[in-house]
Amino acid sequence: MDIQSALTTGAELLPRRIGILDPPREAVWLLAAAWGRSETWIRARSDAFLPDEVEHRYIEWIDKRRAGVPAHYLKGECSFWGRDFGVSPAVLIPRPESELLIEVALELGIGPRARVLDVGTGSGCLAVTLAVERPRWTVFAIDQSMAALQVARLNGERWNAAVHFSAGDLIGAVTGGFELITANLPYIPEDLLAGLSVEVQHEPRLALDGGPDGLCIVSRLLRDLVRILKPCGGAILELGEDQVEPVITLARDQGLAVARRVRDIGGCDRIVVLQPI
Ligand SMILES: C[S@@+](CC[C@H](N)C(=O)[O-])C[C@H]1O[C@@H](n2cnc3c(N)ncnc32)[C@H](O)[C@@H]1O
Repeated sequence: MDIQSALTTGAELLPRRIGILDPPREAVWLLAAAWGRSETWIRARSDAFLPDEVEHRYIEWIDKRRAGVPAHYLKGECSFWGRDFGVSPAVLIPRPESELLIEVALELGIGPRARVLDVGTGSGCLAVTLAVERPRWTVFAIDQSMAALQVARLNGERWNAAVHFSAGDLIGAVTGGFELITANLPYIPEDLLAGLSVEVQHEPRLALDGGPDGLCIVSRLLRDLVRILKPCGGAILELGEDQVEPVITLARDQGLAVARRVRDIGGCDRIVVLQPI
């Protein structure tokens, strides 16, 4: 099969209904990823023939995409803050809006020797990025999922980031004071999960399910946060649509005040920075 026929067939087979907005473009992306080449290289050689193993991989990936498997799980990588992170179905695929959390963390003016904790680290994208961007910070990261931690540890090694990963249920077993805590915990109300896109349904439920009101896990974290946050410290939380107001109320009851709230590109309040009162 040559590149042109592979792309035409791929584009015809990829269904728009699972959220593939531009099937021809996605076919190029998949072929480039399956071949380990750039999209420009693929586009410039329409009459070149695919090696057998590339053809098999490409056809298998088109089939899986038709079944809704996210493209990043097929490639096994996703870019975050300009770096490629390994991903598997054990972890949430890092979202572009979570880069906002990094932006806010780096702007907070935290000292050079800070202790930092990322709760619900998943692929480790937040913890690893912070450790690489601020090499003198001591960064810890926790997740309840052992499978996610395996992926996160590999990402730490990949970027030579000295992150201390450990398994745990939120911060119950954590002691000591932290200047910065980051948390992008599951926040989707459980009755909305079934209505999410087929692609999101392939992501781990443990990374998405926030219980009946979406805030079960976040509110459990809030109840314990002041204990491990230094008086001068801050916690940055990523939240879902319409969750900032209830979280502000919950936080106030736990001795935390809102220092900042930040909207995402879609105008939705996405990030909240909390500090001990
Ligand atoms: C929304 S994902 C975020 C992953 C990553 N921080 C990111 O921003 O892409 C939430 C993560 O929290 C973890 N998690 C869920 N409940 C937890 C708990 N009780 N304690 C620790 N981690 C938890 C999940 O395993 C998942 O990896």
